Amino acid sequence: MRAYKLILIALTLLLAVGCGRRITVESYAIVPEPVFLVQKEGTFTISGKTQLFIDGAGQNSSTVNYIKKSLRKMDIRTSLSGVDNDNCIALVINQTRNDVIGDEGYILEVRPNGIYISANTETGIFYGFQTLIQMLPEDITKAHYSKIIMPCCVIQDYPAFEWRGSMRDVSRHFFSTKDIKKHLDLMALYKLNRFHWHLTDDHGWRIELDNYPEMNDIGSWRVDRDDQPWGKADLPREGEARTYGGFYTKDEIAKIVEYAAERHIEVIPEIEIPGHCAEILCAHPSFACANDDTTYNVEIGPYWPPRAILCGGNDSVMQFLKDVMDEIIPLFPYEYIHIGGDEAVKDNWKKCPLCQARIKELGLEGEEGLQSWMIREIEAYLKLKGKRIIGWDEILDGGVSETATVMSWRGKEGAIAAAKRGNDAIMCPIGQCYFNFYQANEKYAPVGFPGFVSLYSTYHLDIVPTELTPEEAKHVIGGQGNLWAEYVNTQDVAEYQLIPRICASAECLWTPAEKKSWNAFRAKVNRQKARLTSRGYNCGESSFKPIIKSTASGDNDCLITLDWEVEGTQIYYTLNNDTTGSGILYTQPFVVPSGTYVNTKSYLNGRLKECPYRFHIIRSKQ
Ligand code: ACM
Ligand code: ZN
Repeated sequence: MRAYKLILIALTLLLAVGCGRRITVESYAIVPEPVFLVQKEGTFTISGKTQLFIDGAGQNSSTVNYIKKSLRKMDIRTSLSGVDNDNCIALVINQTRNDVIGDEGYILEVRPNGIYISANTETGIFYGFQTLIQMLPEDITKAHYSKIIMPCCVIQDYPAFEWRGSMRDVSRHFFSTKDIKKHLDLMALYKLNRFHWHLTDDHGWRIELDNYPEMNDIGSWRVDRDDQPWGKADLPREGEARTYGGFYTKDEIAKIVEYAAERHIEVIPEIEIPGHCAEILCAHPSFACANDDTTYNVEIGPYWPPRAILCGGNDSVMQFLKDVMDEIIPLFPYEYIHIGGDEAVKDNWKKCPLCQARIKELGLEGEEGLQSWMIREIEAYLKLKGKRIIGWDEILDGGVSETATVMSWRGKEGAIAAAKRGNDAIMCPIGQCYFNFYQANEKYAPVGFPGFVSLYSTYHLDIVPTELTPEEAKHVIGGQGNLWAEYVNTQDVAEYQLIPRICASAECLWTPAEKKSWNAFRAKVNRQKARLTSRGYNCGESSFKPIIKSTASGDNDCLITLDWEVEGTQIYYTLNNDTTGSGILYTQPFVVPSGTYVNTKSYLNGRLKECPYRFHIIRSKQ
């Protein structure tokens, strides 16, 4: 019986290998672009005989387990080798540190006799392996290849910035742990390493709390209006059941943190104070200001202006916040906790005797001073527990401590001000890093937050503002893309909004500015989309509206340059009232008199994409 089973297994394996095709990888399209990559003469073939050799990392370390599991998922069935033979994928932790690649970098060589990845740390090995995944065929997780023939190359790679983040709001809409894991997988593929988890907001509290069960019984649930457009949701009716929502149990959070850690991602929780807290005030009305008689709801639809604010003069509010932190700290073993601080409307504070008494007693500079005091109090409490805080850039407004890290979202000014003061800063300006906005003509996209952030603009973000001196610039520790979830009600929509802008963000954060190339990036995006689609992700269609630039030429003319987002797009143009002709295929910049209308049609693979566009060219005054 046992022999029969063995034969069956052997036959199945033979079939699995035998059925596979050979494939030759012609070129590599890695995102983020490595610091240094040269393709070399010769090839190496991954086959059923290729083995895995590991040196310096524990055979059962989480990184090695991740790599073994990933190889299996890609149907690359490598047995472990005790020696670095020919025909190995070797993963080697350096015995002598290579200072150039630092703690996260790696060297990857495809040689005629094997693949060799070396790094100073397991993190470096992990990133080297992510690069290797991207060097394999795009459909590697679906297709079965008996032989993968890879061009030889040498890659030396390390990140430009330490904070390479992705933010996900789970309050406006709630997402399962499976969805969050898929988000983390996406981050790992692009070497992103900070998952900023926006866990609390007006629309729902998403963390289990033992000491304040009302926060989950009441604060995590809202009336379900997902059958109505977010912007037009009816107000909740008296007594209407609250059926939409949920929260992550502590056990689920621990599992997410562990899953992220296996992918070398730190999870940073955000607990919003003192505003964006309608869900807290719904569960605990006594935390509102003394004479505020509003009945708060766990909000549905747009809640603007967000007037809910925790009373800054009430000691039980401060105790609540400290108790919450006590429950949060054991769940997230990393340095930072995000305390929000954005968009707190302070009207209630102006009228509240408790808030005003606190301002007077402590000699604070009005309501901004009161917010600053609250945040400093929480920061001091967290500092005792070995934690640092991050806040949105409003925390600068009433004066900020020297140690808080500022997340610059209203523009880059927050980062500039923070860095000039000596505070660390993270860049995520709304105009380039908010992935909840449309990335293409809204007629051709799922409903999104009103606004537009194109792939092109995300790609062209300068993480370090030019206003900073080299010394100040060191305080800009990185950046991130943010996904707010008002209009993101399913994982499919989340992925549509994230992809491909997350690729652009990753390249801004990893690749040195001088190595970035829009044209090269654009060409890689199509291949990344194919890879992600094959892995079950729903990719966004980028914009087909031409990116038009007009510069003064001669006395009254303009030089027109057209650019596009999707590799392979062909733009035909006509001028002025000629809107019916097939037009001229754009191949190079052209000159028109100021006042001309340029009409364009974008085609991909012979099909008209989106709609015709019309631009009125007016020469700007010099
Ligand atoms: C924010 O978008 N209110 C940080
Ligand atoms: Zn108050």
